[in-house]
Amino acid sequence: MSEIERVGVVGCGLMGSGIAEVSARAGLDVVVLEADQPAVDAGRARIETSLAQAVRRGKLSEDDRAATLGRIRVTWEADALGDRQLVVEAVPEIEPLKVETFRRIDKVVSDGEAVLASNTSSIPIMKLAMATQRPEQVIGVHFFNPVPVLPLVELVPSLLTSPAAAERAASFASATLGKHVIRSQDRAGFVVNALLIPYLLSSIRMLESGFATAEDIDTGMVQGCAHPMGPLALSDLIGLDTVMAVAQSMYDEFKEPLYAPPPMLLRMVDAGLLGRKSGRGFHQYG
Ligand SMILES: NC(=O)c1ccc[n+]([C@@H]2O[C@H](COP(=O)([O-])OP(=O)(O)OC[C@H]3O[C@@H](n4cnc5c(N)ncnc54)[C@H](O)[C@@H]3O)[C@@H](O)[C@H]2O)c1
Repeated sequence: MSEIERVGVVGCGLMGSGIAEVSARAGLDVVVLEADQPAVDAGRARIETSLAQAVRRGKLSEDDRAATLGRIRVTWEADALGDRQLVVEAVPEIEPLKVETFRRIDKVVSDGEAVLASNTSSIPIMKLAMATQRPEQVIGVHFFNPVPVLPLVELVPSLLTSPAAAERAASFASATLGKHVIRSQDRAGFVVNALLIPYLLSSIRMLESGFATAEDIDTGMVQGCAHPMGPLALSDLIGLDTVMAVAQSMYDEFKEPLYAPPPMLLRMVDAGLLGRKSGRGFHQYG
């Protein structure tokens, strides 16, 4: 099987832009598909900002920054994914949107050996695989935020993923991108979110019930448990819409009250208070 050189990424938000960046920094040719021209411009700007930050921090030379950008094409034309050997889907955590996106990717990618991967945090891979004519090529490849910084990738084969596709995805994440790979069964939340989400939701319930302030809840976990950030600040970093959607998928799968998104989280998402990306969540930004 040929080595992966041509990668596609669908969605250039928080995660897709990071996945495109690390792929291009590893020397791969990257096509990123976005929804429309304004989203293409915003996505490209996100990648440029992140690369400029890497240069400022001395992690990337000016020449490598320019070469990396030269390997990334952001477009809203789906046909540009036609010759890709691996595509990572990173559109919002909305099941019908992801199912439709997989249907579309399946139609445009011509290489029968191509790996069709999802960065979903919680939607069962099987649901996405069954939207395609090649479920054996579909797998979860779950990165962590910020992608250029955090080393972990969860690899999530479904019951139908072929060993060859799983091996190819694992080699892409570890040998090519230098990530550390752990494997999970195809259960909503996989390993990390199955443990993390109940903790984040508990902190939101604690705030909602007036138990303590947001500052004190976060300070408690930073100063008392040596966590790099508190649970409310982490929810803001992930995006409250994403936290809500992941919790909802896990609740749908397991029907356990600990996964049910609390009303405070639902109302904040209704209000557009999504955390860092909107400027305000449990804390204020910018
Ligand atoms: N935020 C996190 O910390 C995190 C961590 C790991 C995994 N994830 C998962 O990654 C995925 C993306 O999350 P995110 O935080 O990057 O979301 P985001 O909202 O920042 O980005 C999603 C992007 O998808 C684009 N998009 C929407 N519809 C599209 C379409 N039809 N075609 C192409 N692009 C489209 C949007 O314009 C947006 O730029 C979700 O499945 C999420 O669960 C998120």
